[in-house]
Amino acid sequence: MFFATAPSATPAAARRAPAIVVCAALAIVALRAASVCAGTTEAHRAMVVAENALAADAGAEILRRGGNAVDAAAATALAVGVTNPVSCGIGGGGFMLIYLSRTHRFYALDYRERAPLAASATMYVRNGKTDEELARSGPLAVAVPGELAGLDAALKRFGTMKFSTVAAPAIRLAEQGFPATPHLVQDIARTMAQVAADPGLKATYLTPAGAPPRAGDILHEKALGATLRALGDDPAARFYHGAIARTIAGWMKAHGGLVTAGDLAQYHPVWRAPLHRGYRSYEVWTMPPPSSGGVVLEILGMLAGAPVSGLGADSPPYLARLIEVMREGFIDRAQYADPDFIHVPIEVLLSQRHIDEALKRALHRGAPAHLAPAADHGTSNLLVVDKDGNVVALTSTINTIFGAKMMIASLGLVLNDEMDDFAAGPGVPNVFKLAGTVANEIAPGKRPLSSMSPIIVTRHGRPVLAAGASGGPTIITGVLQVAVDVLDFHLGPAAAVEEPRLHQQAAPDVVFVESRMPAATRRALAQMGYRLKEVPALGAVGAITIAPGDLHGAFDPRKGGGASGL
Ligand code: GLY
Repeated sequence: MFFATAPSATPAAARRAPAIVVCAALAIVALRAASVCAGTTEAHRAMVVAENALAADAGAEILRRGGNAVDAAAATALAVGVTNPVSCGIGGGGFMLIYLSRTHRFYALDYRERAPLAASATMYVRNGKTDEELARSGPLAVAVPGELAGLDAALKRFGTMKFSTVAAPAIRLAEQGFPATPHLVQDIARTMAQVAADPGLKATYLTPAGAPPRAGDILHEKALGATLRALGDDPAARFYHGAIARTIAGWMKAHGGLVTAGDLAQYHPVWRAPLHRGYRSYEVWTMPPPSSGGVVLEILGMLAGAPVSGLGADSPPYLARLIEVMREGFIDRAQYADPDFIHVPIEVLLSQRHIDEALKRALHRGAPAHLAPAADHGTSNLLVVDKDGNVVALTSTINTIFGAKMMIASLGLVLNDEMDDFAAGPGVPNVFKLAGTVANEIAPGKRPLSSMSPIIVTRHGRPVLAAGASGGPTIITGVLQVAVDVLDFHLGPAAAVEEPRLHQQAAPDVVFVESRMPAATRRALAQMGYRLKEVPALGAVGAITIAPGDLHGAFDPRKGGGASGL
């Protein structure tokens, strides 16, 4: 639903209104020119960083009301699902990395979507050929959503508030409306034909004249608000069983999708053992497979032997080393998949011996060329630090823009296209041109391999940095570069996320370089023999640096966003 007048702002939103206006205006410039202006803030007690300023405010509101980092993370995730429906939401799934200050322990919650039980490795084969478009849009692209099961599990284990309390800001945004960001407008415009073809998306996100909204226009998601409200304090029971589950299953049956009431009833999130590895004087914690957090750790391991800090973040010698180790990390990523189905030799991949060998290989390269990967505007990262020092780094997704490009209108539920994160067929690359591997082939109930890699970095056992990103495979390289920018080049989060980035994923054998990278650096890399492809932007990273009583946070100007502190 679409109106062009602003609702009354929440107190937090009202306090920060000038900043939002300035940032919204600058974000338009940023999107056009991939220029820079981060949603940044500093605070003494607590902070939320998210890819939407109102969603960050939603998390801060929960913190102000006494909620902890897990409560605030759930509130922010639900709110960003409302304000950035192109990226994430209750039709998707994600990963949550949690640090609890009381016990100094880390927890990794996997609520990634699962393949329906009727899915198979050959489900996209038509007339002997894989039709990968079927995995990218339409009912067969949809995997079983995990978002609400995950948020519910996290709240039940570590939260202090009821679901209805943490959902209240999201419900308010959905029902009372929120201003469309330039990023949302751009993504609606980008997928116009598919949005217009789906009755629910069309009614919700296009003007009555059938055009995309303008930045600042107020959007309403009444059906989504009602669904969130109907979840009460038992979201998993009410979404995966009962009337909502029956509506989803009925819609799927009517439209030729595979997700059944049985798939929903059997969905469960998984608490996994987090991965961690030393990097210089730090310990980097992240999600295990089916996340790609281990790839970030492996690449950092290869970088650890190099004296990076004296080189400079834009220096060709540093960037050349980065390109080589990124390539090796992505070659090994092919061994990652759902660990409940495939043995991922993570101990070997993160062993010093393997990392030393990979570093040697990095100097003797060769990889086939492919087409350029698609830009990803699905996926969303958020970070929370609370007053007790608990930290959450959460990344969730519906995969590409508007996921399957379909909405169950009566529920306001935008459906994911997470099946495309599987190998649609042997060797068939996905939308990000990540080559399909047998390890990541489709199987009933399996989770697709993900690039989402939230990290929390500690020093002497205390968190000093939380970071995460969106952007398909550029999540891995974006998180990596921001971590190195903070840990080695001593940049603050705002400078670190604004720093121009590059990306190399082994295949295609091309180095993607942001056009803001200094021309002299680009020339130097080209002279070294790298085939460069200039792109306006690579992913979107958020970061918070953490010191006692001193928090600094920034979200990436490449996607807009905000940081809200207490
Ligand atoms: N859907 C993007 C990812 O999980 O990598």
